[in-house]
Amino acid sequence: RQNFIIAIDGFSSCGKSTVAKALAKKLHFVFIDSGAMYRAVTLYFLRESVDLEDVHAVQEALANIHIDFVPNTEKTQLMLNDEDVSDEIRMMYVSDKVSEVSAVKEVRHAMVAQQQKLGKRRNIVMDGRDIGTTVFPDADLKIFMTASPSVRAERRFAELAAKGEKVSMEDVMENLAHRDHIDSTREESPLRQAEDAFVLDNSDLDQEQQLAIVLEEYTKRK
Ligand code: C5P
Repeated sequence: RQNFIIAIDGFSSCGKSTVAKALAKKLHFVFIDSGAMYRAVTLYFLRESVDLEDVHAVQEALANIHIDFVPNTEKTQLMLNDEDVSDEIRMMYVSDKVSEVSAVKEVRHAMVAQQQKLGKRRNIVMDGRDIGTTVFPDADLKIFMTASPSVRAERRFAELAAKGEKVSMEDVMENLAHRDHIDSTREESPLRQAEDAFVLDNSDLDQEQQLAIVLEEYTKRK
């Protein structure tokens, strides 16, 4: 393999995307937010009321879903069957359901296959839960991010508030705990720290400091 793959995993709201985006920008790599793909699938399943227990319905739905990342001047848009759903997939009602949908075996197989394709022949930074363990077990650099629960909840709360969504701190904490629990206990590619991952606890680090640390790890491996 000629291309360089950076895998960033960790619990919800640890700041994975922020670091991944900064890193991709700095290195001129392609950034891929795997969580956005699971969110898009969840949005589709919610709209179509897909029964998660019904394997045929799940497979049919997956066959009808086309997800695309379209780079734009300011940000990358997430297209679900040619509709820009970038904002909608961040809403709380999607967050509330995304881990249940992501635990479905067929959903994971479809997304993992698509993610592996996206990482062919180009340099990428991909963030998620199982990137260093399942999607790219041979990634060139694996980072496992952690942060204290209160720091994570505050970050997510501020993010949602900035978008005008009215949620309480309690709701946010509950959603994070709920997702982390399902994500780390599911049967199919659960959230785990890869043995060869570099652990980054960013509870007390600003974005610049985090980027510097990660770049140093990159330099060691390139
Ligand atoms: O990264 P983000 O918080 O947007 O991900 C939303 C949800 O998608 C996670 O809570 C998890 O349930 C699921 N996910 C996953 N595997 C990934 C990325 C996200 O199961 N690689």
